[in-house]
Amino acid sequence: MSFDLKEIIAARLGENYELHHRHINRTLVAAQRVIGFDKVYARAEGAYLYDMDNNAYLDFLSGYSVFNIGRNHPVVKKAIRDVLDLDLPNMVQMDCSFLSGLLAEAITKRTPPHLDAVFFCNSGTEAMEGALKFARAATGKKRVVSLESAFHGLSIGSLSLMGCESFTEGFGPLMDQWDTRIALDDIASLERELAKGDVAAFVIEPVQGKGCKSPTTDFFPRAQGLCRKYGTLLVSDEVQCGLGRTGKMFGFQHWNLEPDIITLAKTLSGGYVPCGAIVSRRDIYQKTFSRMDRCVVHSTTFGRNNLAMACGLAALEVIDQENLVERAAEMGAQLMERIDALRAKHSFIKEVRGKGLIIAIEFHEPSEFKLKMAWKLLHKVDKVLFAQMVVTQMLSKHRILTQVAGHAMDVLKILPPLIIGEKEIALFVTALDNVLTDCRKFPGPMWELGNNFVRAAISSRRSSQAPVVSA
Ligand SMILES: Cc1ncc(COP(=O)(O)O)c(C=O)c1O
Repeated sequence: MSFDLKEIIAARLGENYELHHRHINRTLVAAQRVIGFDKVYARAEGAYLYDMDNNAYLDFLSGYSVFNIGRNHPVVKKAIRDVLDLDLPNMVQMDCSFLSGLLAEAITKRTPPHLDAVFFCNSGTEAMEGALKFARAATGKKRVVSLESAFHGLSIGSLSLMGCESFTEGFGPLMDQWDTRIALDDIASLERELAKGDVAAFVIEPVQGKGCKSPTTDFFPRAQGLCRKYGTLLVSDEVQCGLGRTGKMFGFQHWNLEPDIITLAKTLSGGYVPCGAIVSRRDIYQKTFSRMDRCVVHSTTFGRNNLAMACGLAALEVIDQENLVERAAEMGAQLMERIDALRAKHSFIKEVRGKGLIIAIEFHEPSEFKLKMAWKLLHKVDKVLFAQMVVTQMLSKHRILTQVAGHAMDVLKILPPLIIGEKEIALFVTALDNVLTDCRKFPGPMWELGNNFVRAAISSRRSSQAPVVSA
């Protein structure tokens, strides 16, 4: 047998974008080329990616919060090797596999005692879809209420929870008759909907992925009270916020909530193997698996696979042993304070918000007269182009990977791995200061870059290709 992956990589690494153009998503390739994200990464470790010339890139994106424990963590690598070395039986299906039992035990040791029953799946959107089914089965009600600016995944059920047209356009009809969206903090609308008595679940993200917003009022505790009053289950989507990201183990803990169901994915398996989970109260769980002939009424083939379960066990242990929850809170506070201090110097910065290490930097029209003109020109074409300009320059000039936070938003979002320290904070803040200083030179190279985006955006609209990449 002559298959040798190392040889293939040594011989062909660098063909990435040609291969993707030919066989995968060529629109994404085009967009990545426009924004200068068409790098070839050869290696990764901790908070850094390395290109083929061994240049280091600081990863403040973490694969959209998959690598909370850093990339290629040795403890997770060892767990994978152990599973392979032991030749364990995997996915027998008609048995109760050992590692999934252990991971369920490890998760429920970290959740509040009432969240004691676990269902394993493969992704965040799958966990959300399952949570909706569990809620319907448990309450006998059909409707779901969610928040307008939410992100819950891109399969039809999760998509139906979201108000963002840039994700839903062209994929309808969604489950609109069963899903109602309300604005964050709009407690009156929530009560109006729940009072109808037919709502199975109210779904929240503790800090919204799109724009990193949380309530500015006591909306969440009051919403939980209303859910209890009207017999609706509270579902907290912890796919991005869970497992330390916000500086607490779970995002809902910032408001002392007691959700009935939570969903997990992303960092649960430490970044190697897809893994998602629904964690709910046992009585809710049993309403789905209510009779012997319904014992696999909700299931998925790869849900409890050994590699995912072993990685999950290892990743949870790393989060505890390296005190990553506390570290996220501490480093997040430092980082936000230092970015906020840049506001005095750069009138582009409107607000710095977030919790722990999920942080948004929102921009607005600068106060300087000559910059207002440049700003307005960009914004006539697309609201995200200024943030994209900053994101592009952070990567091309300073080798720091960040993202724009969502469509129609002037927001740069960062999701650093929870292992970062003062060195990484200093690198980021110095780079952002430098890029925003460059933005104050008009005319200048930054605004030339902006002009290129304007041209690309206009021509992409003609050919219906995406000008910016946001998630
Ligand atoms: C809050 C939240 N929920 C659900 C999802 C969907 O997860 P997945 O991409 O694994 O389907 C995401 C993904 O970004 C997310 O941020």
